[in-house]
Amino acid sequence: MKTRFSRRHFVGGAAAAVGALGLRPDSALAALRLPTPPPGVAPLDPYDDIARLANNENPDGPSDKMMASMEAAWKYANRYGYPDGDIHEKIAEHHGLGTGNIIMNAGSGETLKVAGIAFLGHREKVVGVEPTYTSVYRVASGIDADVIARPLLPDHTQDIDDLVQVTKRNYRDVGLVYVVNPNNPTGVVVPDSDIRYLLDNIPEDIPVLIDEAYHHFVQDPRYSSAVKYIREGRKVLVTRTFSKIYGMAGLRLGYGIAPEEMIDEMRTYATGSVNALVRWGGAAALADPGYEKYVREKTIRLREATVADLRSQGFEVIPSETNFFMVHTGRPASEVRAEFRRRDVAVGRDFPPMLDYLRVSIGTEEEMKRFMAGWNEIFPDGMTATGRR
Ligand SMILES: Cc1ncc(COP(=O)(O)O)c(C=O)c1O
Repeated sequence: MKTRFSRRHFVGGAAAAVGALGLRPDSALAALRLPTPPPGVAPLDPYDDIARLANNENPDGPSDKMMASMEAAWKYANRYGYPDGDIHEKIAEHHGLGTGNIIMNAGSGETLKVAGIAFLGHREKVVGVEPTYTSVYRVASGIDADVIARPLLPDHTQDIDDLVQVTKRNYRDVGLVYVVNPNNPTGVVVPDSDIRYLLDNIPEDIPVLIDEAYHHFVQDPRYSSAVKYIREGRKVLVTRTFSKIYGMAGLRLGYGIAPEEMIDEMRTYATGSVNALVRWGGAAALADPGYEKYVREKTIRLREATVADLRSQGFEVIPSETNFFMVHTGRPASEVRAEFRRRDVAVGRDFPPMLDYLRVSIGTEEEMKRFMAGWNEIFPDGMTATGRR
């Protein structure tokens, strides 16, 4: 007897059903109205059919300890005031700083927005590179501030000397310097010596935002966190997130670390709040270095295996220190992305001006196999298929 329910048949039925309802088959509402599968068959969630290699997430999600801690916190769901695992204090302790040096937000994305509003609110300019994570630039555009986005060097590193010169030239107007380290989408680190050079050579009253979302994955000994510069009393804001190594992207927890005056300036603009479950989940994450190590090692192993496979076929891959990498497609990455999408594999969006590079996040072992299988179909002859070697 056939025990597995036929997915094709089921999806067909679902598509027909949502068609009858007049819904787009891919809409969230359509997904909610899928017919119930027959008894004994696991419910089908079309969301799970896609290999998600587009957003630099952790495919394993929170650890068992984090889950247990969050489950125990449900009993606070109906309260405003409750014990919260001392998450704020624990973050401060983790960095050897005081609670006044920490702003905790619903994701580091919120910290970036709050920083943008606080430091660019008088139509100042933000200086940084392109491509990079664009959240701060988008805030700047939204509040009529300006973005000075400088190109990367040919080796995809950030040209720190150029950022220094541009900042000095625009001194009166610059409200913030933004450095993502390691950078997204390239995965390339800025060595600590360059960060120090930047801080030593721009006027010391200009705040520098260093976005360390991928800090936990870095192995390059030239890299080091910029938190120490806050301890030195510099005008530095470091942002961190629980979305990546701790697998909490959908739960929303991130924070900023900075001198107290900068935190005070930002606090006024924070709007999101971190819920009880997430607070307990975050506290458990900080107390579970074993999980962090497991995710780091597994991610790096899968990344290096995939990168080696691509390089063995002649493709250029930018050396990455993160949970994603960029590969040179030699043709518009948008075409390659569409080919992958047809195979139920989601890969990174376009990152102008690097339009012939594809950003690929590290997923599960099975997802990486699906990625390589898709790649081998899309590029059957290795790099020569693109006409460039
Ligand atoms: C460099 C960088 N900063 C910040 C974020 C925002 O992360 P979150 O808001 O989930 O903390 C991301 C997410 O991809 C990122 O890549």
